[in-house]
Formats: sequence, C-alpha cells, structure tokens
Amino acid sequence: MISKKVKNIKPSLTLEITAKAKKMKAEGKSVIGFGAGEPDFNTPDYIIDAAKRALDIGFTKYTPASGMQELKVAICNKFFKDNGLMYEPANIVISSGAKSSLYHAISALVDDGDEVILPSPYWLTYPELVGLAGGKTVFVDTKPENGYKITADEFEKAITAKTKCFILNSPNNPTGAVYSEEEIKALATVAEKHGIFVISDEIYEKLVYGNAKHFSIAACSDYMKEHTVIVNGMSKAFSMTGWRIGYIAAPIEIAKAVSSMQSHTTSNACSIAQYASVEALESDKSDEFVSKMQKVFDERRKFMMQRLTEIGLKFNEPMGAFYVFVNVSVVYGNSFCGQVINGSLAFADAALKKGIAVVPGIAFGNDDCIRLSYAVAIEDIKTGLDRLSDFIKEIK
Ligand SMILES: Cc1ncc(COP(=O)(O)O)c(C=O)c1O
Repeated sequence: MISKKVKNIKPSLTLEITAKAKKMKAEGKSVIGFGAGEPDFNTPDYIIDAAKRALDIGFTKYTPASGMQELKVAICNKFFKDNGLMYEPANIVISSGAKSSLYHAISALVDDGDEVILPSPYWLTYPELVGLAGGKTVFVDTKPENGYKITADEFEKAITAKTKCFILNSPNNPTGAVYSEEEIKALATVAEKHGIFVISDEIYEKLVYGNAKHFSIAACSDYMKEHTVIVNGMSKAFSMTGWRIGYIAAPIEIAKAVSSMQSHTTSNACSIAQYASVEALESDKSDEFVSKMQKVFDERRKFMMQRLTEIGLKFNEPMGAFYVFVNVSVVYGNSFCGQVINGSLAFADAALKKGIAVVPGIAFGNDDCIRLSYAVAIEDIKTGLDRLSDFIKEIK
C-alpha cells in the first residue's frame, strides 16, 4: 500500500530516544536529556513583539510562495554583511524551516539515480531527503584525526559520472566540525573541476567557538556562487525553532524551481513568523542576543570537554553548533546490568537506565560515538555527566 520511496524512510532514532526519556519522566523517574536539537533560550522579546504587531496590523494572509519581499531584502543584507555575498531578492526563497528548504532544494536538483556525496557522520535527514528524490547517497566516512572533515582528495575519489551534488554542513551536526576557509576552498576546487552542485547547510553559522570562523563555499568564486544552494534559517541563531522559517540563496533557475515546487507543497511560510524574522535580521539588538547565547554555549562546551576528559572519554573539540560527539567504543563488549554493550544503540539504551538520554551515533552513521547536546542547562549538564561517569564505571 505504501509507496517504495516512503516505505524506505527510517524512523528517527533521535525521536525514539526522546520518546523513551519522556515516558520515563512521566513515570516519575529522573532523566537528564542530552538530545536537545534546539537552543534552550526564549525567542527574544523584540522578535515576539514584532509578531504581535503583524497580528495587530492584520498581516495574516498569504504572502508570495517564495516569501515576502521585505524579508528577502533583509536576507540579502544578511548575506552581504555576514558572508560577503551579493544576492538579489530573486535568488532567495523563504520556506517553513531549513528542513523544508533542504527537501525542496534536493528535489529540485536530484533526478532518479543521481548520486549525492555526503560526508559521514551526517545529520540524519539528508539521506532520507535524497532517497525521497530518487537519488542515491554516497557516504564518505571522515576520520576523527581529520576533525571529521572530508578532504578534497576523499571528495574527488567519491565522484562518479552520476554525481550531481555534494552536501556540505559546516558548522556540523553532529560533530561540531567547522571547515576553515582553506579547507572549503580546496573542496570548491574539486566541485568546480567536476561540475558538482553544492548544497551548503549553514544553519549553525552563528554558533562557532575559539578561532573557528564560518566561511560559505558560495563565496569562493562566481562559479561556486552559481553552483551552490545555501540553506540557512532563523531556528538556531535566534532561538526560533518553532516559528519555522528557513531560506535558501540559490542561482535564479534553482530558486525559481524551488519556489514553484514550494507553491504546491506548502504555499508560503507563516506570514507572522516572516514578519517577525525581518525584525530578527534587522534589529540592532540581534548581535547582542546572538553573542550572549554563543557565550553561554561556549561556557557549557568548555565545561563538558573538561568533564568528559576527566571521565576518560575521547572526543574532538567541537568548534561549532552545540553538540559533542563522544567516542564510547572503549566500553563495547562489556556489560551493564547483564546487557552487553555492543554498539551506540545498546549504550544509549543502557544509559537511559542510569537516567541519561543520549543520541546513538549510529543515527548519524557512526556507531563508535554518541551525541551529547549542550543546549541544556548547566546544572543538568553537571548532573548528567556525573551520572555518565558512574555509568561508565559500572560497565564491566
Ligand atoms: C544541520 C541541520 N540542518 C537543518 C536543520 C533544520 O532546521 P529548521 O528548524 O530550520 O528546519 C537542523 C535542525 O536540527 C540541523 O541540525
């Protein structure tokens, strides 16, 4: 009854763990959730006030399918200011979240049988969207010693006559890897040499730490700008996950195709949320909000790294987003409460019994690791990592 394409979609492991943790909490058990995929901050008041104004003035009707003009202009200004990229409103398509933008962009580019290169570990949604478009994901395992970043050489080796696209996600979910300008330029050289389109998911661009700097692959050359779809949105930078506003910047032909597809799937993104997003992008209060949030994340990140080192677990320093990807394979083969820990799923299952919810790395294509989010209150991080420490000691 169900179509092959949809039948092949894997249920989200992240949601499964979250549901188990929720059930335990409802039963009165104490569970610290490290699964959070969204900032634990309120959307700032000045953005909420703008949404109220939208309601008061009756901005509650359809907008153009590709989004309201004022927001497109604000997004163009953002690209110029943050990424040194000059786009026209015609290059911009606003959607109901970056996930929706990715769905439409991948569908607009990928034909049946086309190959899409994806560095692994990867955010779990990409291969599902490639599959829905009829494409084939070509996974390229990255190495922790390379910072979980694909090298230009590895990228080139994965290219075949069927390769259409390359998905780049920097800052990265789940590893926290941030590619340097030099690394991005090396990848761009390969993409340009072989005529590969790049889908660059830059949703975590504002959350970078230490010396890391975000650099967009579209800024490498005019050629790359014409062969890149940048995906970004309001969710992570402005703590607006529930508002559902994402956007792309793309060559006009792709922007038109995405917009026409979107006109049939979702029409426009919520008018009220679009109106409020103009305020988020243009208000002079935004820099302060984003940098405050970034500082809090950075403090938690440092605390987590110190504590995980004390516990004796290996991880790469995350330079962006809000996750630590921790290698727990040292305990594989040992048991907890009679249950053998033979992979990240078994680890996550057993950890729940100790009152900690973690996301198994297998969900992101790496079974050696688990993902811990630090979009979690510091007190909970402390308690959760104490529990993790005890848990590791009890695995014999
Ligand atoms: C890498 C990455 N891209 C895109 C998204 C989706 O963002 P949005 O809330 O705008 O759909 C997420 C959300 O977790 C993400 O981690």
